Amino acid sequence: MSYIEINGGKQLNGEVNIQGSKNAVLPILAATVLVNGITKLNHCPKILDVFNTISILEAIGCIVYWENSSLIIDTTKLNTSTVPDEYVKQMRSSTIFMGALLGRTNSVTISYPGGCTIGKRPINFHLEAFQEMNVSVEDDGNLIHCTTKRVKGSNIFFKMPSVGATENVILAAVLAEGKTHIYNAAREPEITELCKYLNAAGAKITGAGKDEIVIDGVDYLHAVEYTNPSDRIVAGTYLTAVAGTGGEAVLNGIGCSSLQTVISLLKEMGNTILCGEDYIMISSSGKTKPIPFIYTAPYPGFPTDMQSQMMSVLIKASGTSNIYEEVFENRYQNVPELIKFGADIVINDKEATINGVSLLKGSDVFASDLRGGAGLVIAGLMATGKTTIHNPDFIKRGYEDICKDLRNLGADIRYMS
Ligand code: EPZ
Repeated sequence: MSYIEINGGKQLNGEVNIQGSKNAVLPILAATVLVNGITKLNHCPKILDVFNTISILEAIGCIVYWENSSLIIDTTKLNTSTVPDEYVKQMRSSTIFMGALLGRTNSVTISYPGGCTIGKRPINFHLEAFQEMNVSVEDDGNLIHCTTKRVKGSNIFFKMPSVGATENVILAAVLAEGKTHIYNAAREPEITELCKYLNAAGAKITGAGKDEIVIDGVDYLHAVEYTNPSDRIVAGTYLTAVAGTGGEAVLNGIGCSSLQTVISLLKEMGNTILCGEDYIMISSSGKTKPIPFIYTAPYPGFPTDMQSQMMSVLIKASGTSNIYEEVFENRYQNVPELIKFGADIVINDKEATINGVSLLKGSDVFASDLRGGAGLVIAGLMATGKTTIHNPDFIKRGYEDICKDLRNLGADIRYMS
């Protein structure tokens, strides 16, 4: 079984180019189904979740191939609206194909996506919205079968701003009859990118990035080329890694705008950060001030996808910090692993109390989810001695090559098989 090996305790210095965004490219790849033709998608990350999504596109009859870091997707020969079960089990975000297949074929059949280690992750908001849009939903708890004569625009009110549900409604609404208003929409930058891609293909969407989005149904979408943005969570991961170890780094290919809450916290913790048009510079002493309260929240709040990475930096802060994980019900999987390094963390329901310690020692630890795995890498870089991290495939779901990127910053880290 492969694992990651780190010899920690070194500062990080250097430059790294940030890969394409996982959470922007996945819904855009599903959205290509709405274009009855060819999409060229530049700056796609070569990560497991993208490979899984390519398998789904091929399984439903699309032709997909790489040209360097661009993906060419031809959906003209799409021949089924059933998403193969094996892929849904591997990647629950395959549910994003529901809206796109409804819009293209007026039907979709998909097995219930399992939850994952961070939470149950229901899709009730998605299904309730489809029913408001003239879609009949049969759901036997295993298989979901949705059909419609034609998707009809409607007013959709979300109880809470769900990223996936917002994306699925947008995808179902783009070729629908009439107008769809989404109220309490998610405002993540990935939603804005999805809408920019769709509008570039001829959709009529306004309000992306705000809590009210309006989609005016059109008859078809034309071939399009689009460039996927850089991954803000990968960038945030590397910023927190430097904050934890100390050093100076430049992240190329991304600005600060999509990471404002992360950057303001890193500054409060004692780091210096400079924002360029297309780069972020961080300078860190490696000494971290504690943060009394951090609440994860939908964008533009502090992103839950940065919670594990931030926790790893705070375990060596000069005092006590408190994190409140408000988005997912089980996103503290890393805590027992961090305690192996010598961290002092107490969990009480949603609250994690972190009493900073001065020394972390390298350990043998196990990743149990994508961002938790990234958090363990950061802790290993901060710890003195050798760390081994098992289950690295969790990390490969979202990071093209975290070891190579961090070696560019001087880390002593590698995949071992
Ligand atoms: C997206 O997941 C991201 N994944 C997640 O990133 C991210 O953590 C999450 O948004 C929040 O920002 C992708 O974009 C592929 P939600 P999603 O629907 O869409 C509840 C990563 O590490 N909910 O906004 O599944 C849900 O249980 C991943 O890259 C319902 O109750 O997130 C959760 O508590 C992890 N019913 C909350 O809403 C629903 O129908 C937020 O979920 C839908 C969601």
